[in-house]
Amino acid sequence: MSHPNGYPTVRLRRLRLSETARRLVRENRVCCDDLIYPLFVVAGRGVRREIPSLPGNYHWSADTILYEVEEMLKLGIRAALLFGLPESKDELGSGAYDAHGVVQEAIRSIKARFPEAYLITDVCLCEYTSHGHCGIVRGDTVDNDPTLALLARTALSHVEAGADMVAPSDMMDGRVGAIRSALDERGFQHVPIMAYSAKYASAYYGPFRAAADSAPAFGDRRAYQMDPPNAREALREVELDILEGADIVMVKPALAYMDVIYRVRQAFDLPVACYNVSGEFAMVKAAAAQGLIDERRIVMETMAGFKRAGADIIITYHAKDVARWLKEEE
Ligand code: PBG
Ligand code: ZN
Repeated sequence: MSHPNGYPTVRLRRLRLSETARRLVRENRVCCDDLIYPLFVVAGRGVRREIPSLPGNYHWSADTILYEVEEMLKLGIRAALLFGLPESKDELGSGAYDAHGVVQEAIRSIKARFPEAYLITDVCLCEYTSHGHCGIVRGDTVDNDPTLALLARTALSHVEAGADMVAPSDMMDGRVGAIRSALDERGFQHVPIMAYSAKYASAYYGPFRAAADSAPAFGDRRAYQMDPPNAREALREVELDILEGADIVMVKPALAYMDVIYRVRQAFDLPVACYNVSGEFAMVKAAAAQGLIDERRIVMETMAGFKRAGADIIITYHAKDVARWLKEEE
């Protein structure tokens, strides 16, 4: 370990004295390859509407989204995570698995123009159901098993439209396995699943629910998303998703759950993603707008923290800014 005499022989400041020295011994770094950029798709044409709860993020229609994808690719970000806001909602969230749904049409539009864009889709029903829950509601609860078929249909329709990867975010038991079987049966054995494995029932999703119009009309999601104080349980969630065929596991939110990211990293060898969610983003934006913090430094420090905790992949609304700042650091 260190020199037996310690100070004054040992001085850790030696390697902090110049930017070059600091870079030489830097243990973790973020790069564009790590980033996934969330995108929100709406119905219609010519739509480019800023989302008030997520400043700098927009609702795009299947035509205008090409501008955003082009910009993202130019910045060096290759992967996007697509969310859809359908024209109409119903009890069974049928817009989620409509072959001509908003996400399906956006995928076709993007792939026709930018086949190199890597498109991951969020697979859930809450943006598409009239009640805003992530599955089929029976009485006052979400009915797990019948929901699985609808999630599998949704994932399949995304892949049929050209999605490169699917990401179930509903937290039903057995959804990864149900999606894996549905994809395999149709010849999509090669399409990976990124599971929202340790997804907590979090207040940090607030700005997203305003952006995606997906707040539950009654109750909350605590009967299916994880209880925030639990960490050992997260390892069980991850283990089960791996057994069901997940290729990448995710921890969400990220900042208040760094210990969970770390534990998952230590316990498993799969790629680990973390989701730097809407509330985390909105807090930074609000504080920066008030001049309370240095946005760039705060964001880059946070990204480094995710990597240090053990995340391989970072899903973040800051992605485009991070890409720009990384270029400036080169
Ligand atoms: C849908 C979904 C949510 C998020 C991602 N997928 C919202 C929720 O579960 O209520 C949250 C993303 C964010 O807050 O940035 N199930
Ligand atoms: Zn949902």
